[in-house]
Amino acid sequence: MIYFKDNSFSHDEITTCAFLLNEGLGQNSYSTEELKPFAKQYSNKILITAHLKDQLVGIIISERFTPANCKRITKELHKIDIDPGIEKTAILKAAAVKLKLRGRGIGVALIKKALQKVKSEKYKYAIGTVWDIPENPVKKIFNSIGFKELSLINTYWTGESIQKKYQCPICGNPCFCNAILNYIKI
Ligand SMILES: CC(C)(COP(=O)(O)OP(=O)(O)OC[C@H]1O[C@@H](n2cnc3c(N)ncnc32)[C@H](O)[C@@H]1OP(=O)(O)O)[C@@H](O)C(=O)NCCC(=O)NCCS
Repeated sequence: MIYFKDNSFSHDEITTCAFLLNEGLGQNSYSTEELKPFAKQYSNKILITAHLKDQLVGIIISERFTPANCKRITKELHKIDIDPGIEKTAILKAAAVKLKLRGRGIGVALIKKALQKVKSEKYKYAIGTVWDIPENPVKKIFNSIGFKELSLINTYWTGESIQKKYQCPICGNPCFCNAILNYIKI
């Protein structure tokens, strides 16, 4: 039976979260230190984990999106009259499920949990960027739960990949992947 947690994380749990994110998004994408503010829910950050038989098997992180976070996304949101400076908007930043357990519905359940959580915190919109590649499971999940595709953002992760020196699983480092920006009204 799967269950979820959104607080009281141990150091080992946060380390496992970093391991799962690095396994899914590329080495060096997230460190334990970087996840601590999410685990402690500092400044509108959220971390939710999925557990199966007492094993931590999935993670999602989210934070409040403001115009200061990314001008390119803000510009796209303005096109559909969403002002993230005024209307509380959450960005689903990253999610990963243990490699061996993917494709069993854990990812979709985590994203739904994150949406419930931000709804309970009076967010009006949630946004998420996904790799622009065919057969992307997150793209499928977003479509199935009502996210709308807003626009394509070219080479979205390049700066971050250089700064963090992470290996994008699709193109290495630097990452030149394009992102599809998705949004949903909560
Ligand atoms: C994205 C991810 C979190 C999804 O978790 P998951 O538990 O595998 O997802 P689900 O089992 O809920 O599946 C959701 C949908 O994706 C599909 N899917 C799952 N794994 C897939 C794969 N490897 N290839 C293609 N489709 C896949 C499922 O069939 C399902 O679609 P359906 O409802 O039409 O059947 C997981 O694949 C993962 O950790 N990937 C690596 C990290 C990543 O890409 N993170 C997202 C970017 S932040």
